[in-house]
Amino acid sequence: MFGLSKYDGQLQNCLIAMEIKVAIMKIVVIGGTGLIGSKLVTKLREHGHEGIPASPNSGVNTLTGEGLAEVLKGASVVVDVSNSPSFEDAAVLKFFETSTRNLLKYGGEAGVKHLVALSVVGTDQMAESGYFRAKIAQEKLIKKSSIPYSIVHATQFFEFLTKLADIGFDGAKVRLPGVLFQPMAADDVASAVARVAVGQPINGTVEVGGPEQFRLDELVRLRLAQVNDPREVIADPNALYSGAKIGDRTLVPGKDARLGETRFETWLKQSAGQNPQTGKKAAAVIN
Ligand SMILES: NC(=O)c1ccc[n+]([C@@H]2O[C@H](COP(=O)([O-])OP(=O)(O)OC[C@H]3O[C@@H](n4cnc5c(N)ncnc54)[C@H](OP(=O)(O)O)[C@@H]3O)[C@@H](O)[C@H]2O)c1
Repeated sequence: MFGLSKYDGQLQNCLIAMEIKVAIMKIVVIGGTGLIGSKLVTKLREHGHEGIPASPNSGVNTLTGEGLAEVLKGASVVVDVSNSPSFEDAAVLKFFETSTRNLLKYGGEAGVKHLVALSVVGTDQMAESGYFRAKIAQEKLIKKSSIPYSIVHATQFFEFLTKLADIGFDGAKVRLPGVLFQPMAADDVASAVARVAVGQPINGTVEVGGPEQFRLDELVRLRLAQVNDPREVIADPNALYSGAKIGDRTLVPGKDARLGETRFETWLKQSAGQNPQTGKKAAAVIN
């Protein structure tokens, strides 16, 4: 090394090694095989971190506790981007309550320094919905635990638009509340969660959203047109969202939200080759 004695060189190597040790974190991603989770693991690894996907597929089940102690060993951060396999009211509540309790228990025992959880913008205003009661319960448990935490509230994902159509489909038409809507690309959600995961715990909630505002019915109509789905989309002021009556601004984030970069038109072009499932009437629960 230029201008350094042998001793200085050894010292410098040692400092670099220490720096690397401090910078590289083991980050366990619960739900790391899902839409957001898989993108998140990739991004964390691209930035040199040890991103570990954890889900029933890899032998980790937060509902039963199976595999949690092992996977959390040596982890600095745990990120929860899991979702319940069933959206039925009692099942989803049991999923988020039991999973979160287990995560906090095993995370505490493993000495995890930061717990990050992904939730939804407007959650607190949608307690009429079984799904959102479960997300509220998840957040409450995290907030009162002793592990430092950050909760990320994201708006709906662009990838979720056709599912929204299925959910609003009454057999003849797709009925949705015509409220303000600011969705974002799943890729941008994953980037936002990654940024929070490698930062200091905020012990609070940060909001993330898309770069543009639309009306909910308008965007679902555009997406259906793109995938040649002939169903008519109606803005119905009486339509519920996941079983909850919502206001014009319930689904949009506040002014301090961090905004994703991907515009809807850009995402639409990128997703043109994809073939989403359409046409089925889904269970009346959405997130
Ligand atoms: N949809 C939206 O527009 C939206 C908007 C804002 C926030 N969110 C939130 O984003 C989060 C992630 O959503 P997503 O669409 O990425 O989910 P997803 O694709 O449905 O993935 C769910 C993940 O949860 C895992 N999982 C299921 N049961 C589990 C268990 N018992 N233990 C551990 N992991 C389990 C699954 O693992 P396997 O693959 O092994 O089954 C999978 O990896 C949710 O919490 C949701 O509330 C969604």
